Amino acid sequence: MSVLTIDAGTTGVTALIVGENGAVLARGYQEFAQHYPDSGWVEHNAEEIWQATLAACRTALDGTEDAPTCLGITNQRETAVLWDRRRATAPRRAIVWQDRRTAGICAELRDAGHEDRVTELTGLRLDPYFTASKLTWISRHDTRAWSGVLAGDVAVGTVDSYIVWRLTGGRRHVTDASNASRTLLYDIRAGEWSPELCELFGVPLSALPEVVPSYGPVGDTDPEEFFDLRIPIAGIAGDQQAAMFGQNCYLPGSSKCTYGTGSFVLVNTGGEAIDPKHGLLSTVLWQHPDGRLDYALEGSIFVTGAAVQWLRDGLGLIDTAPQSEALAASVQDSGGVVFVPALTGLGAPDWDPHARGAIFGITRGTGRAHLARATLEAIAFEVRDVVDAMAAASGTELPELRVDGGAAANDLLCQLQADQLGVSVARPRIQETTALGAAFLAGLGTGVWASTEELMHTWQLDRRFEPGDRDERAYRRWRTAVERSKGWAEL
Ligand code: G3P
Repeated sequence: MSVLTIDAGTTGVTALIVGENGAVLARGYQEFAQHYPDSGWVEHNAEEIWQATLAACRTALDGTEDAPTCLGITNQRETAVLWDRRRATAPRRAIVWQDRRTAGICAELRDAGHEDRVTELTGLRLDPYFTASKLTWISRHDTRAWSGVLAGDVAVGTVDSYIVWRLTGGRRHVTDASNASRTLLYDIRAGEWSPELCELFGVPLSALPEVVPSYGPVGDTDPEEFFDLRIPIAGIAGDQQAAMFGQNCYLPGSSKCTYGTGSFVLVNTGGEAIDPKHGLLSTVLWQHPDGRLDYALEGSIFVTGAAVQWLRDGLGLIDTAPQSEALAASVQDSGGVVFVPALTGLGAPDWDPHARGAIFGITRGTGRAHLARATLEAIAFEVRDVVDAMAAASGTELPELRVDGGAAANDLLCQLQADQLGVSVARPRIQETTALGAAFLAGLGTGVWASTEELMHTWQLDRRFEPGDRDERAYRRWRTAVERSKGWAEL
């Protein structure tokens, strides 16, 4: 038995075939286009996400004789997707989680005194990051698409809902509770869409997907749409929650950090949604088939891996992201250079949609290597900021941090991270933990694995990084630089 898993991330789609022992038998990957129509705007074409999904799955399926018996999906969260229920077309491009255009709508709602109630119901905050204000924006600025929503012809969802809809040939319009909990429209304690929040953001409840548990069958793939395969879709979770599942963080207190486009630190808080403090969020981790919800505290950092991508694509400083490690290691330190990668504003713990990226401390002696080192240091500082916030919120220090995602392969980054945190950083053998988590959910939902205890045995350590000297002066410089980057887009 094997599981096909789709990780529809922010910049590309990964597909894996995972065997019963948790090993990756085959993989496929396909990037898709990013659209930046205006300053601070980020959009995706839904059809391009679907085509990338098909291409990645085709490669993975061709890579093994093993025919999968079920399918799991995980995805970039919060992104608002609209599509026509009769034709498979989208009336407009999706607005991506990184998009800052709705800062004004969020400020309006905050000024009207709604933030406390929104946080009480959702565990989130009024920030452009989440789905709801993106939908409000569409209702105000794209009346053609929105009239379709109001008429019931156009469906609304996140990337998981759109992919399930395509996979099932339009038979299922669903999302799981972990994805729903990122929309600002879902009451995380009641475990259902909130009519009060739908009214506040002007979103008709009837346009939203049915919320289903994170594992257990929800529908079959349509063979006509998906490589002649009819298999149950049996696992759905937002990518950060799926990474928790893939890292075996099943017990309260366990935690992980995933380095992707951004980085997201989550701590399992069990059956209790804790009131979020210190710039953290309280969010659904997953929903069990019996309806029980588990929760997490989350620190969401918007730009980490994307800063390395910017060194590659924006500056041409490196040809590939992994080259950043050797370049950064060629100097002892950043030579006093501090890079604040607030390229799409700041998320946790500072939350400023108007902050913008900044580089401080440049001298005539500054070179490419210093900038590469400052970028890796920035990622380690950003993660320290949210881990410190978690310690303050929970009153307990993390015993260690499990890491995964693309940049976890970077040894220098892992060492800088351990140094800054003052605790050990543990890297598993399989770092595509997000996709793995969705495979585990689907396999658990169809009996490939009987229990999470069984899955615990699949986790294997690749390397542990022990903390060395912590450069407090560099960290203080970082915090000063962060403060100075705030509010830039408003000047
Ligand atoms: O909340 C946004 C997150 O889901 C995106 O993850 O891996 O695409 O950076 P990633």
